[in-house]
Amino acid sequence: MIVHDLTGKVAVITGGGRGFGKAFGMALAERGARVVQLDLDEAAAKAAAAEIGHGAEAVMVDVADEEGVHAAMADIADRHGGIDILINNAGIHSAEANEFIGKLGTARTRQMFEVNVWGVVYCTLGARPFMTGREGASIVNIASMAAYGAQKAYGVSKLAVRGLTVSFANELAPEGIRVNAIAPGLIFTDTIRAELPQPVVDHVMAMQIIQREGEERDIVEAMLWLVSPGASFVAGETLRVSGGATLQV
Ligand SMILES: NC(=O)c1ccc[n+]([C@@H]2O[C@H](COP(=O)([O-])OP(=O)(O)OC[C@H]3O[C@@H](n4cnc5c(N)ncnc54)[C@H](O)[C@@H]3O)[C@@H](O)[C@H]2O)c1
Repeated sequence: MIVHDLTGKVAVITGGGRGFGKAFGMALAERGARVVQLDLDEAAAKAAAAEIGHGAEAVMVDVADEEGVHAAMADIADRHGGIDILINNAGIHSAEANEFIGKLGTARTRQMFEVNVWGVVYCTLGARPFMTGREGASIVNIASMAAYGAQKAYGVSKLAVRGLTVSFANELAPEGIRVNAIAPGLIFTDTIRAELPQPVVDHVMAMQIIQREGEERDIVEAMLWLVSPGASFVAGETLRVSGGATLQV
């Protein structure tokens, strides 16, 4: 369990209303950070902030809305004096979106790219001026094991997240902002339990070399390490947390 003091740090978590986003907010707040749970779903964000406590806030914004994102980041920074940690977690990953592009259709593929890819761009550029030069400033993008192989639309969007991680790591390093990513394997959030067909679950479990269900805490621990001083020499990496399901040389 990674324990480091985040007192005085301001953390913005996109898709903070449930799943990983809520768990990230909880872990960061428990370590002293002021967390802002940013989500399209206002009710979910408010409920998550209330559950997290420690002064957690809910902000309603669609990460695919460039202007809205920039306004939200400026407002957060204005109220809290800056931003130290950004977790680009919001994403569309329903089982239906995990399809070939021709089958999914260009309109739905574009919509997914707006959130999964452009959302990362808008939030990163929106937060950037308020993170620049702050001690330990760190961005963590949430990619996916589906980015390895990237056979379907969702995987391609998450492959783009890996690319953005390398590109932004280069661009923002001179400003003192480290950018990394996590590629989770199959993690049993409420959404995954509700949506993912059993044959897909069985297929992924068979690829794992560690035979247990992935849990939210596995991803939370990776995030805590990446934003910690212990990872201060790590930039542009995508850390696979998948029980070995995505091992490659
Ligand atoms: N759960 C897994 O096994 C798994 C595996 C690999 C990657 N991921 C990735 O992790 C991230 C979080 O996954 P999760 O399982 O916690 O998802 P989830 O569906 O449980 O929660 C996603 C949250 O993001 C919010 N959101 C969606 N679109 C948004 C938008 N346009 N603007 C703002 N908020 C928006 C939703 O309202 C929701 O609260 C996603 O990027 C997903 O692709 C999840």
